[in-house]
Amino acid sequence: MTQAKLIDGKAFAENLRGRVAAKVAKLQDAHGVTPGLAVVLVGEDPASQVYVRNKGKQTVECGMHSFEHKLDASTSEADLLAVVEKLNADDAVHGILVQLPLPDHIDEAKVINAITPDKDVDGFHVINSGRLMTGQEAMVPCTPLGCLMLIKDTLGEDLSGKRAIVVGRSNIVGKPMAQLLLDANCTVTIAHSRTQDLPGECRRADILVAAVGRPEMIKGDWIKPGACVIDVGINRIPAPEKGEGKTRLVGDVDFAGAEQVAGSITPVPGGVGPMTIAVLLANTVTACCRSLGVAEPEA
Ligand code: GUN
Repeated sequence: MTQAKLIDGKAFAENLRGRVAAKVAKLQDAHGVTPGLAVVLVGEDPASQVYVRNKGKQTVECGMHSFEHKLDASTSEADLLAVVEKLNADDAVHGILVQLPLPDHIDEAKVINAITPDKDVDGFHVINSGRLMTGQEAMVPCTPLGCLMLIKDTLGEDLSGKRAIVVGRSNIVGKPMAQLLLDANCTVTIAHSRTQDLPGECRRADILVAAVGRPEMIKGDWIKPGACVIDVGINRIPAPEKGEGKTRLVGDVDFAGAEQVAGSITPVPGGVGPMTIAVLLANTVTACCRSLGVAEPEA
């Protein structure tokens, strides 16, 4: 039995934020421009409030401008679209993120697709999905891009010929993740709830990305010895061993079993989670440079 190398997403994200800050400083020096990220939150969902607070804090820590728009849960779709239009037209705003989920009376797709694609730092606009799918310059969704960075940091830049499996087919993680791995010349399988012999499919993979939102579903004996395992899941489950009513966070992979077999694995928490905001900040710098028509500074 081996013990997998732990992939430290927290440390990687910290380092990435440092590089983003260095790029921001260079952009200010060379062009007198400070990248700006606008985040729109509708309603009072507690998890969303935490995300938005962290995004704002980290944006400012990187030297960028943070614009927060907090709207009442009863805000109409038309009023939200008007806010998006204002941000689209604002030259100080290089990236726009509308925090999801939105209240039920608002059409999420309509709002996301109202964002100017070049400011869509989440990469959720259909234009950006299409650009990614066809190999054009796109804004790439943050979580899958962060996963790719961790995979390349672990296995090296060249992933050619590796077998990869992405478990989960969401528009936000699974599909763009599969596309990024395909672009990196992996042989990619996308697995989902109707996949036959999921354990067998997983066992063939040199790279396994789990993004299904089902606690500890992927077992240790589903993993190819030495594989790189990236766990996107963040699931809260009861933890009676910690005391009555206590909970703990687990991924989509049974970590205790998987770490005995995998070559490398992301923990939960501290793996993929911290990458999302760091990549969002990096995407904002990218969007700013593209809007100025300048090359992204080295860092
Ligand atoms: N809600 C949870 N994660 C995200 C994210 O990455 N982007 C947006 N827009 N909403 C979210």
